[in-house]
Amino acid sequence: MAFIDEMMAKAKQDKKTIVLPESMDERTFAAAEKILKQGIANLIIIGKPEDVEKNGKNYDISGATIVDPFNDPNKQKYIDKFVELRAKKGMTPEAAKEQMEKDYMYYACLMCKCGDADGVVSGACHSTGNTIRPALQLLKTKPGIHSVSGFFVVEVPNCEYGEQGRFVFADCAVNTDFDSPKLAEIAELSADSFRQFIGAEPKVAMLSYSTMGSAKHDDVTKVAEAVKLVKEQRPDIKVDGEMQVDAALDSTVAKLKAPGSPVAGQANTLVFPSLEAGNIGYKLVQRLAKANAYGPVLQGLSMPVNDLSRGCYADDIVGVVAMTAVQAQEANK
Ligand code: ACO
Repeated sequence: MAFIDEMMAKAKQDKKTIVLPESMDERTFAAAEKILKQGIANLIIIGKPEDVEKNGKNYDISGATIVDPFNDPNKQKYIDKFVELRAKKGMTPEAAKEQMEKDYMYYACLMCKCGDADGVVSGACHSTGNTIRPALQLLKTKPGIHSVSGFFVVEVPNCEYGEQGRFVFADCAVNTDFDSPKLAEIAELSADSFRQFIGAEPKVAMLSYSTMGSAKHDDVTKVAEAVKLVKEQRPDIKVDGEMQVDAALDSTVAKLKAPGSPVAGQANTLVFPSLEAGNIGYKLVQRLAKANAYGPVLQGLSMPVNDLSRGCYADDIVGVVAMTAVQAQEANK
């Protein structure tokens, strides 16, 4: 079964409530019809009646809950929560109301925070920053986690590497500056995400242009230090590095460059040393190897919120909703 079909099957086993705030985009309604028909999640769509009518008229969304942000009996509850959460940042009831009406992503996150929804999917017509920022401000990280990061599940056809061609790549989406502790945390979260989504043991390669000290530079030391931190903090995780990506994937190269490594030659979780490397890396594999790349999925948030590509199709939204619902199942455990 393809990865995304596994996610949809898993989502159906314990249905969660996911908010779709982009009623201004027809793809939201095309996806909603499929999600509801297949029973993947319960849906809340935030939108003014005229937008819902205009963009949703060709789709059967009768099973969704439509919330008009200008006429919602729960609105005051969300305004109060917004003010409570952001009082130290100077948030007032007037500003909260205005922000929620202007940017439904805030509304959606407040629904989650108040227990009325389990997760949010947005980004078909908003940038990654616009999608992620409200979640970072309102939902915050899980206890003990310092930084949210973004990973992709990459599924490469006819591939002998990784877990039968399946990988987690991180951070490909969020953090623009990395030090060793942040890199270590990304590795730990990515290992947990691999186990959650792929269901196999993660083998984490901390990538660099150097393998086990073959080059000397601060960039290399940063990765090597992160490896040490993961080994100390999470002895349950198989991690190694720093290593080049050929040593991480290929057992012949691994024998030459990193003999005896428990990860080299068998890595399935690739942690990149910078956002540039991660973002470019997943897109190269996606395009050149004709791989499926699902994400960016955010890890480390207290509740699941996930971003879409602006070039996405309705089916991509269905897939991301399924993954978000699966994360919500885990968050509720
Ligand atoms: N983890 C947890 N919290 C964070 C993080 C993080 N990684 N980054 C920022 N925050 C928090 C801050 O602490 C702050 O909280 P506060 O308001 O309560 O104090 C809040 O989020 C806003 O932080 P800012 O520093 O003002 O950050 P900003 O809003 O400028 O940006 C963002 C955050 C949007 C994630 C930014 O880092 C970003 O744009 N990253 C790159 C996104 C991107 O363009 N990715 C590539 C495209 S995606 C793709 O191709 C798949």
